[in-house]
Amino acid sequence: MDLKTQSFLLLVIFNGICASLQQVPQAFTSANPCTSKGKCHECIQTPSCAWCNDPNFEDNHRCFQPSTVTSQQKQCPEEYVVNPDNIESTLMNLTLSKAHKAGIISSGTLVDVAEGSYNHSGSWSASGSESSSWGGGEWGAQAGGKIVQLAPQRINLKLRVRQSYKIDMWYTQAEDYPVDLYYLMDLSKSMSDDKEKLSLLGDQLAYTMKNLTSNFKLGFGSFVDKVVMPYVSTLKDKLERPCEICVAPYGFRHHMTLSNNTHMFSDMVKRADVSGNLDAPEGGFDAIMQSVVCREHIGWREQARRLLVFSTDASFHYAGDGKLGGIVKPNDGRCHLSREGFYTESSYQDYPSIEQINLSVKKNSINVIFAVTESTIDIYKQLAANIEGSSVGKLEGDSSNIVSLIKEQYEQISSTVEMKHNASSAVSIKFYTRCLNSTGALVNTNKCGNIKVGDLIQFKVEVEVLKCPKNRDEHKQTIQIYPVGINESLIIDLEMLCECNCEKPGDRFYEENSPRCNHKGTYICGICECYPRAFGRKCECSTEEASRNITDATCVRPDGPPGVKCSNRGDCVCGKCQCHARKNDNERVYGPYCECDNFSCEHHDGKLCSGPDHGECDCGVCRCTEEWTGTNCACRKSNATCYAPDTSDGLLCSGHGVCECGVCKCDTTEDGRYSGKFCERCPTCSDRCIEYKDCVQCQMYRTGPLKDEHDCATNCTKFTPIPVKEVVANEENNEFKCAYYDEDECIFTYVYYFDNDNKLQVKAQENRECREKIFLPFIVIGVIAAVVLLGLAILLLWKLLTTIHDRREFARFEKEKMMAKWDTGENPIYKQATSTFKNPTYSGKG
Ligand SMILES: *[C@@H]1O[C@H](CO)[C@@H](O)[C@H](O)[C@H]1NC(C)=O
Ligand SMILES: *[C@@H]1O[C@H](CO)[C@@H](O)[C@H](O)[C@H]1NC(C)=O
Ligand SMILES: *[C@@H]1O[C@H](CO)[C@@H](O)[C@H](O)[C@H]1NC(C)=O
Ligand SMILES: *[C@@H]1O[C@H](CO)[C@@H](O)[C@H](O)[C@H]1NC(C)=O
Ligand SMILES: *[C@@H]1O[C@H](CO)[C@@H](O)[C@H](O)[C@H]1NC(C)=O
Ligand SMILES: *[C@@H]1O[C@H](CO)[C@@H](O)[C@H](O)[C@H]1NC(C)=O
Ligand SMILES: *[C@@H]1O[C@H](CO)[C@@H](O)[C@H](O)[C@H]1NC(C)=O
Ligand SMILES: *[C@@H]1O[C@H](CO)[C@@H](O)[C@H](O)[C@H]1NC(C)=O
Ligand SMILES: *[C@@H]1O[C@H](CO)[C@@H](O)[C@H](O)[C@H]1NC(C)=O
Ligand SMILES: *[C@@H]1O[C@H](CO)[C@@H](O)[C@H](O)[C@H]1NC(C)=O
Ligand SMILES: *[C@@H]1O[C@H](CO)[C@@H](O)[C@H](O)[C@H]1NC(C)=O
Ligand SMILES: *[C@@H]1O[C@H](CO)[C@@H](O)[C@H](O)[C@H]1NC(C)=O
Repeated sequence: MDLKTQSFLLLVIFNGICASLQQVPQAFTSANPCTSKGKCHECIQTPSCAWCNDPNFEDNHRCFQPSTVTSQQKQCPEEYVVNPDNIESTLMNLTLSKAHKAGIISSGTLVDVAEGSYNHSGSWSASGSESSSWGGGEWGAQAGGKIVQLAPQRINLKLRVRQSYKIDMWYTQAEDYPVDLYYLMDLSKSMSDDKEKLSLLGDQLAYTMKNLTSNFKLGFGSFVDKVVMPYVSTLKDKLERPCEICVAPYGFRHHMTLSNNTHMFSDMVKRADVSGNLDAPEGGFDAIMQSVVCREHIGWREQARRLLVFSTDASFHYAGDGKLGGIVKPNDGRCHLSREGFYTESSYQDYPSIEQINLSVKKNSINVIFAVTESTIDIYKQLAANIEGSSVGKLEGDSSNIVSLIKEQYEQISSTVEMKHNASSAVSIKFYTRCLNSTGALVNTNKCGNIKVGDLIQFKVEVEVLKCPKNRDEHKQTIQIYPVGINESLIIDLEMLCECNCEKPGDRFYEENSPRCNHKGTYICGICECYPRAFGRKCECSTEEASRNITDATCVRPDGPPGVKCSNRGDCVCGKCQCHARKNDNERVYGPYCECDNFSCEHHDGKLCSGPDHGECDCGVCRCTEEWTGTNCACRKSNATCYAPDTSDGLLCSGHGVCECGVCKCDTTEDGRYSGKFCERCPTCSDRCIEYKDCVQCQMYRTGPLKDEHDCATNCTKFTPIPVKEVVANEENNEFKCAYYDEDECIFTYVYYFDNDNKLQVKAQENRECREKIFLPFIVIGVIAAVVLLGLAILLLWKLLTTIHDRREFARFEKEKMMAKWDTGENPIYKQATSTFKNPTYSGKG
C-alpha cells in the first residue's frame, strides 16, 4: 500500500465517521462554492451563499455560507448580511366558479328565433346578462360576473437563482362555459356540395352544440384565394365569373358574426356563393389569420371556448407563396376587413406563416379544428402539430359528418386541460399534477384528460431561475401560465434576485469616487470597483505604476528566503504586498514584505514589552516610552527611585550600591552584605527607629516628648501609623522592627518600611505592653520575715529531732537497766589477774 492509497483510505474512513455522526459540515464533503465569489451579485447568484457588506470584513471571505459558519470564525454582523430569500405574494386569488347544481337547462328553452341583426356587439357584458337567464347568479357574486376556472390569477415572486419555488394552482371546468364556434369554409368550386350539406346541417349543428352548452354562438366565414395570378385567373370574364354558378373570387369574406341566432347560420351558408380559382392550394391562411385577429368583427367573446372550424378539401398556401403573384410584403398579422366583411389586404400582403398563425391563435386562445378530407388530412395533421391547441378531424367528401366531427372535437378539447407558459429560457417552469387521481403520485405533466364539469385539478408549478440573464431589464419578467384555449391565466410577476441592492446607486453601500477606494473607484457592497487604469484592492495601483517592473518578484524580500512572497503573510497585489488581517484585532502584520508585526516582541511578566504603558512592539522590537528602557522596556531610566526617601545624604542606594533600572544593587563589604531597598541595612548598621519613635508615640499613644497635640501635629507629618494588633516584621518587605520603653515603663512596638512608591509606612501595635508595679519595702520585710521564719523552722526541726533521739536513747537505757542481772558468771570484761606464758623453745618435758 503506497502512501497515496493509505491517505485515501484514511480519508474515506474519516469521511465515513463524519457521515455516521451526521454532523458533517458541507465544507468537508464538497468545496464551499461561495468562497470563490468575489462580487455580491456573483455571490447571491450562488445558492446557499450570503454576502457580507461590512466595511471592516476581510475581503476574501465576504461571500460565505451561513449554514457552515462556525462560532470561531469571524461572523458578519446581522445588519450587513445580504442573503435574500424567495418571496411570494398573491396579488389576486379569486375563488373558482363552482359547478352549480341546478342541472343543465334544456337547450330548447334557450333557442332564440328572433331575427338578429347582421352586426353583433359581442361584449361580455351582453353575454353576462344572457348568462343570468340560465341562473349563473352564484358566480356573479364571486367574481363580478366572471367565470373563474383558474386560481390564483396573479402572484408576485422574487426568486434566487437555482432555488426552485412551488406554486399551487387550481383548475376547474365550469359548467355551461360559453362556446363560440366560427365556421370557416373553403368555397372554391369543389366545395359546393359541402356547402349544400352544411346549410342543411346548420340547424342540427346548432342544436347539438346547444345540447352541450346552453351558451352557444355560431358564426360563418368563407375563403377562396388571393385574386392574383397564378392563384386565380385574372382574365376579365373569368374574374367576374370563374365558373357557371360561381361569383367573383375573393380572399376571405366574413359572412356572419358570432350570434346566438343559429337559424341565421343555415341561411347565411345557403346564401354564400362558391367561386373558382386555378391552383389546388387555397388561401386558407389569410382567412384563419383574419378570423383570429378580427375580434370585433367576428365577435369573439372574452370568456368563451373559441372554436374555429376550418373545413377544406385542399392544401394551403403559406408565407413565401405570395412571391409567385408578385406579393412580397409580409403579412402583418393585423385585421383588415372591409365593412362588407372582405379581406382588403388580400392582394397586397403575403400569406401568414405557420408561426404567425401559431402566435395569433395562441394569443387569442382559439382552438382550430381542421375538418379536412382524407386526401389532405396528413398535411393538416402536421400543421396542427405546429399550431397550439389545434386538432384535425376527417371530413367526408360531402361534409355529411360535420356535426359529429365538431361534437367529438369539442368534447375532446373541453375534456382536456393543457397548461402552457411563455417564460423565457432563463426560467424553467415545470408542472406536476395528479390529474384526477387524488391518491396517485404527482406526475410531471402539463396535461390532464377526461375532465368533467366540476372536477378540481391541482397543478404544482415549479418555477426556477436557471441563470441570471445578462441584460438587467430581463431580471424582471412577467410570465403567463395558461390553459390552452381558455382566456384565463396565472400571471407571475417574477423578479430574479440577481443583484444586490448595494450594487445600485443610492444604496448606503454604494459610493462613487469613494475615499475608501482612494478616489479611484466605486465602493460597492464593501469592495472597491476601480475605474479604468486603477486596480488593487483599494484601487491603490494604477497602470502607470504597473508599467514599471511590477512582478511578483517585488513582493519577495531581498534578504529573506527566496521565492517567499510577502513572507507568506500577505498577497502580492500589483507588485505590492497586502498583508493579511489577523483574526485577533490586537494584532497587525505590516511592512513592505509583511515582515513586520506588532505581536512578536519580548515579554516581561507575561506582558508584551512590559505592557502598553512601558512600550509597544514594532517589528520585533520594543519601543519604550520616555521613562523606560531595555529590550523589554522593563528598565526604569531615572535613578530617582534609588534614593532612600526622607534622608538628606543624597546618596544613591545609601552609598552602598549601584542603581540599575531604578533598583538598588547592594555591595558586599567586609562588614557584611548590604541589603534593603536602598541598601540601608547591614549587620552593623543602625536603623532609623529612633527617628520615628517620638511621632509614633504621640500619634498612637499620646505619650512621649510630643505629647502636646499641637507639637505632634506640627512635627509629625511624614507618616501616620497604621494600627495593627500585633507587629510582625516582614523581611521581604524590608520592614524594620523597633521597640522602646516609654515613660510609663510600657513597651511599644512598630515597624517601618518603604512601599513601592518609596513612601515611608509605619505600622504600630495598637496597645502598649505594660508591667505590673510592685512596692519595694514589702519585698524587704517579706524577705526578712521569710529568713526568720526559715531559721525558726530549722531550729524547731533540730529541736524536734534531738528530742526524739534523746527519748529513744533513754528508753533503751531503761530497758537494758531492767534486764541487767549481776551474773555470777564470768564478767565478760573480767580478766584474770594471773597469766601464763609458754616458752616455745622449752622442750623438756616438763
Ligand atoms: C387562493 O384561495 C384559495 C381559497 O380561496 C386557497 O385555498 C389558496 O391557497 C389561495 N392561493 C394562494 C396562492 O393564496
Ligand atoms: C340572443 O342574444 C340576444 C342579445 O344579443 C338576447 O336578447 C337573446 O335572448 C339571446 N337568445 C338566446 C336564445 O340566448
Ligand atoms: C353594421 O354595423 C355598422 C357599424 O358598425 C353599421 O354602419 C351597419 O349599418 C351595420 N349593418 C347592419 C346590417 O346592421
Ligand atoms: C342532448 O343530450 C341528451 C343527454 O345529455 C341526449 O340524450 C340527447 O340525445 C342529446 N340530443 C342531441 C340532439 O344530441
Ligand atoms: C381575455 O380576457 C381578458 C379579461 O379577462 C380581456 O381583457 C382580454 O382581451 C381577453 N383576451 C382575448 C384574446 O379575448
Ligand atoms: C407554437 O406556439 C407554442 C406556444 O408559444 C410553442 O410552444 C410552439 O413551439 C409553437 N410552434 C411553432 C411551430 O412555432
Ligand atoms: C408572457 O405573456 C404576458 C401576457 O401576455 C406578457 O406580458 C409577458 O411579457 C410574456 N412574457 C414573456 C417572457 O414573453
Ligand atoms: C391512481 O394512482 C395510483 C398510483 O399511482 C394507481 O395505483 C391507481 O390505479 C390510480 N387510480 C386511477 C383511478 O387511475
Ligand atoms: C525592469 O527590470 C529589468 C531587470 O530586472 C531592468 O533591467 C529594467 O531597467 C527595469 N525597468 C524599470 C523601468 O525599472
Ligand atoms: C497592533 O496594531 C493594531 C492595529 O494598529 C492595534 O489595534 C493593536 O492595538 C496593536 N497591538 C499591539 C499589541 O500594539
Ligand atoms: C544612575 O546611576 C548609575 C549608577 O548607579 C549611573 O551610572 C547613571 O548615570 C545614573 N543615571 C542618572 C540618570 O543619573
Ligand atoms: C517641634 O517643632 C517645632 C517647630 O516646628 C520646634 O520648634 C520644636 O523644637 C520641635 N519639637 C521637637 C521635640 O522636635
